[in-house]
Amino acid sequence: CGRDKDGFNMRDAPRGPIILGFSQVGAEGGWRKANTASIKKAAERNRIDLNFKDAGGDPERQIADVHSFIDAKVSVIAFAPVVETGWGEVLRRARDAKIPVVLTDRLIDEPDTSLWASSIGAEFAAEGNLAALYLENDYTAAQQTVNVVQILGVAGATPTKQRAEGFAATAAKGGRLKIIDEETGDWTKDGGKDAMTKLLRRNKRIDAVFAQNDDMGLGAVIALEAVGKEPGKEPKIVTVDGTKAALEGLIAGKLNYVVECSPEIGEPLMAVVVDLFHGGRVQKQIRSEKAVFDPQNAADEIADRTY
Ligand code: AHR
Repeated sequence: CGRDKDGFNMRDAPRGPIILGFSQVGAEGGWRKANTASIKKAAERNRIDLNFKDAGGDPERQIADVHSFIDAKVSVIAFAPVVETGWGEVLRRARDAKIPVVLTDRLIDEPDTSLWASSIGAEFAAEGNLAALYLENDYTAAQQTVNVVQILGVAGATPTKQRAEGFAATAAKGGRLKIIDEETGDWTKDGGKDAMTKLLRRNKRIDAVFAQNDDMGLGAVIALEAVGKEPGKEPKIVTVDGTKAALEGLIAGKLNYVVECSPEIGEPLMAVVVDLFHGGRVQKQIRSEKAVFDPQNAADEIADRTY
């Protein structure tokens, strides 16, 4: 440790290579696969050695994977949590081992926010707000309450909670939309199809569907068509993510609105990893941009969509 030209102490230069231990939720759908591709591509571009593990949607396996990164003495740990709970012990171990931690995509439920250096991802509550707002605007002339069913992601995950909260808050303000029922679709197309089938059995009049991701919304389309309904007309469908498959659904008139949640967080993550490795300061919270697509602007966007 020496002094720089201004006389300040310099920390020992860290020795490369930078090793990033990254634990991914799984490969549950189009968004997640695009997210993994973005992280792998950015790691390669930034010459960061990536120790990548896929938790397969299993919270316990994911915590074990993060322990294994500490054992392997990686430079930085990042993970997209399957669920919000259960993180205290392993993150305290990472802190004791002086390994900085970055949360990607989702958040965790830990009161000690010093356990992670930064979090990078979307504003899920705002996505729920927008989903309700766009739907609400379609019904300004409606004489009766608009019956909405919600297809939820995995219980205990940040987007499941916050998208539901955001949608409910905006619906309550507007007063037109009423969430009459909900069912989990586990973020997958098959899950969305099964959830929609159950919701159709339980509810006589469904005016609109809020599917918390594209895959579940596209699964709901299959279930609705199987019983002779016309998704996009009755019921209307709003989803979140903005995958190419969903934009195609919009153009085909089977979905009505798609709120974007960008999976492309590889580059901002690598920038934070490099800064942490060199002992620099990083922003505690980095938020991604979003848009809302309808059948018109989906047609403009689709050529550039890579996922
Ligand atoms: O956490 C982001 C969500 O997780 C995406 O909306 C969904 O598609 C994924 O499974």
